Amino acid sequence: MDLYLEKAKVSLSSRRYTHVLGVTETAKALAKRYRFNEEQTGIAAALHDIYREKTPTELKKLADEVNLRLPDDDPPTWHGPVTAARLRLDFGVDDEVIKEAIRYHTIGHQDMGPIAKIIFVADAIEPGRNFYGVERLRCAAEIDLNLAVAVVADASLTYLIEKQLQIAMSTVELRNKMWGLVDGDLRKDYNQSSKTN
Ligand SMILES: [Fe+2]
Ligand SMILES: [Fe+2]
Repeated sequence: MDLYLEKAKVSLSSRRYTHVLGVTETAKALAKRYRFNEEQTGIAAALHDIYREKTPTELKKLADEVNLRLPDDDPPTWHGPVTAARLRLDFGVDDEVIKEAIRYHTIGHQDMGPIAKIIFVADAIEPGRNFYGVERLRCAAEIDLNLAVAVVADASLTYLIEKQLQIAMSTVELRNKMWGLVDGDLRKDYNQSSKTN
């Protein structure tokens, strides 16, 4: 896994690399807590933003080379699908779980698996994040993974609405599905524990 962090280090600004380290640390802790594969989680976290600093033109070229049709969503979301499509070619990683986690880390997908959920959550709550309300998201991550995905998706949607930006339908579908899986007791726990934050 250190090999992939090394790749992130040489590809990214130090600010972004610090974020990647934070996501990796947080994601591995969540994998341990919820008993999912820490190695796969660590690799997905290390590589999730590796193309985040490429320009839209560069990303388009990288996508064209592997016949990937870029999504209709805004260019800042393109790095996920582009990295996923080139994972084996550029990084020698041939693992569908890691691929899915990287593919959906920005906008999410309602059918994503547990490691993809972990990366989606860790991306929002890593120690370097300090936006208003982040402590409530951290509380949710302590309680239940689906709950955490639901509240992170809500925070992301709220942010996009406030900034008058485009919303990906897959984030809305993910949000609705996850809240549908969170039972009343979990909601109560969350509302109780997040009250103080
Ligand atoms: Fe990203
Ligand atoms: Fe990220």
